[in-house]
Amino acid sequence: MKPACSYAATHAASLADPAAFWLAQAHLLPWHTPPTEALSRDANGFYRWFRDGELNTCYLCLDYHVQHGRADQPALIYDSPVTNTRRTYTYAELLDRTARFAGGLRAIGVGFGDRVILYLPNVPEALIAMLACARLGAIHSVVFGGFAPPELAVRIDDAQPRAIICASGGMEFDRVIPYKPLVDEAISKAIFKPAHVVVLQRDFVPAALQPGRDLDYQDLLQAAPVPAVPVPATHPLYILYTSGTTGRPKGVVRDHGGHAVALRFSMAAIYNLEPGEVIFTGSDIGWAVGSSYIVYGPLLRGCTTVLFEGKPVRTPDAGTFWRLVAQHNVRVMFTAPTAIRAIKKEDPEGVLARQYDLRGLRHLFLAGERCDPATYDWARELLGVPVVDHWWQTESGWPMLATLVGLDDMPAPRAGSAGHPVPGYDLQILDEAGQPVPAGTTGLVAVRLPLPPGCFPTLWNDDARFREAYLAPYPGYYLSGDGGYRDAEGYTYIMGRVDDVINVAGHRLSTGEIEEILAAHPAVAECAVLGIADELRGQVPVGVVVLKDGQTIGEEALEKDLVASVRHRIGALACFRRVLVAQRLPKTRSGKILRKTLRQLADGEAFTLPSTIDDPLIIDEIRGDLQRRGIGRAFAPDQPT
Ligand code: COA
Ligand code: AMP
Repeated sequence: MKPACSYAATHAASLADPAAFWLAQAHLLPWHTPPTEALSRDANGFYRWFRDGELNTCYLCLDYHVQHGRADQPALIYDSPVTNTRRTYTYAELLDRTARFAGGLRAIGVGFGDRVILYLPNVPEALIAMLACARLGAIHSVVFGGFAPPELAVRIDDAQPRAIICASGGMEFDRVIPYKPLVDEAISKAIFKPAHVVVLQRDFVPAALQPGRDLDYQDLLQAAPVPAVPVPATHPLYILYTSGTTGRPKGVVRDHGGHAVALRFSMAAIYNLEPGEVIFTGSDIGWAVGSSYIVYGPLLRGCTTVLFEGKPVRTPDAGTFWRLVAQHNVRVMFTAPTAIRAIKKEDPEGVLARQYDLRGLRHLFLAGERCDPATYDWARELLGVPVVDHWWQTESGWPMLATLVGLDDMPAPRAGSAGHPVPGYDLQILDEAGQPVPAGTTGLVAVRLPLPPGCFPTLWNDDARFREAYLAPYPGYYLSGDGGYRDAEGYTYIMGRVDDVINVAGHRLSTGEIEEILAAHPAVAECAVLGIADELRGQVPVGVVVLKDGQTIGEEALEKDLVASVRHRIGALACFRRVLVAQRLPKTRSGKILRKTLRQLADGEAFTLPSTIDDPLIIDEIRGDLQRRGIGRAFAPDQPT
């Protein structure tokens, strides 16, 4: 049911009495045991939602719809130009496969509370595996396929999965990426060893199976179907790892109950989608956006989701997203600004878009990184529909700022702004002392506790880090790590991270982690990694390194070594391609590297030298070095005008 309320009234009600507001939303779902209590605190003092409720997310996503007239409706449309495949699964078909696969998982010992890591591209079998884990009360953790074995190994050791489900490989443009050898390498590096690896064999890249440990995905699908197990609302549905400010990723936990309530609400209020309508989210199931709006949100709402295996360009061309919209009757499309920039670069006049009938599209939603106004305006003019930039994080799992097109009296979206606080979020901009700042003043973006349902209740195995990283800095608030401001009319602008996290093509990376890798090179004395502006990807990391005394390695040879190390340790997705050797790094007198000043220098931004700088002359040296290597917006020879 679509909430027939004004935005202002809905937002106010959600803050005035969060428990009553969300309990009413919760009662719109088919619980096994409906909750009587909305909000409580656990032994750590952390907020928990719907503690005494029981439900199962897989049941809500599949069984419920099959039982209520949607058995023959398409649930999932798989469209893969890279493998030249298109397949549609009805709700009944998806349920059948999921229930069987859950039976197969149970037969190999996966049960309630067990972790299962998934390392697959955007294929239907990945969704089936996610839903099958949910069905058993097992906890899945999808790891993005672009991560290298050491990153996968860290996640294996943290999650300690009973099984890993992987594809034999994926397809990047026309290049085959074998995944199975990466999984084998990760397992050999990890201390914890999963009992089984379930392999989805793809005909273009068959993988060798290790007898005893490895199983064929199709064999598990032969099992008898099993029913959904009711689980406590607070039971984890999944863990999704995201970059923190160190080399150790954070395992964001999502629970069954709050997640289902929040996503169902968002599908109606934010995206204005009715059951039976089609959404296409151009992301990857390894990111929060994909998990929430390729998989769970659409299925919870009884919508049809388009699962796309490919890229916005060159698979086969920059019209591929528009073909999906036209051919699959897409009402709402969601992607990252990088994807739109990539399309715009290859088809600036929108010639390909005009080949398709896009009249069915109602809205384009963007998130994952700041959307520059030029990209925003281009998309809006091309598509002739409202473009909604909205802001969220892996931690929240659903938007915190948006234009809620399903509510009445919503102020229209504006280029550069991520909109207004979503119901449930008491968003504040704070100064360094934790005091709210006046309109127009930039500060730290924070949310007053309690966070609404759907947001992470803690980090996997690390309550202390949850408290220290997010809650302790400003008691009573969740600190997002982003900076921004609110204007006099209430529009909020997210301006970027205030910590050591950068955003590369909508992917979140830790500069601290890259620095750890560079610093491990025998020739490197010290280093700084900056996220500098990039026309396509928003930001890309660049290393500035100082050599140890007596080191004679050439700059290009060192760059090659370091680029290879980052690729090997983190993965190609880091897009780490440039290294600058400097004589010294700019520092404060107390020895802190002035990373922000370096980044501003590379981006050609005006900046004031901190009064605490040790030696201001270093800035001129580095400016000369950047120019010499053509690194940075201010110095690149092919810099766009
Ligand atoms: N598996 C294996 N490798 C992967 C991968 C995956 N799932 N995803 C990316 N990579 C590799 C790429 O092949 C590339 O490798 P290369 O350096 O050997 O060429 C590298 O990681 C960088 O990838 P990417 O930044 O994606 O560059 P690209 O040239 O392949 O594509 C875009 C550029 C803009 C088309 C692409 O970044 C894109 O579609 N962005 C949309 C962003 C998005 O969906 N974000 C999700 C958050 S909402
Ligand atoms: P992730 O957890 O990978 O989804 O990344 C979350 C981060 O991406 C946020 O902390 C922001 O820095 C950035 N981000 C996401 N959406 C937006 C947006 N609409 N505008 C600006 N930044 C965004």
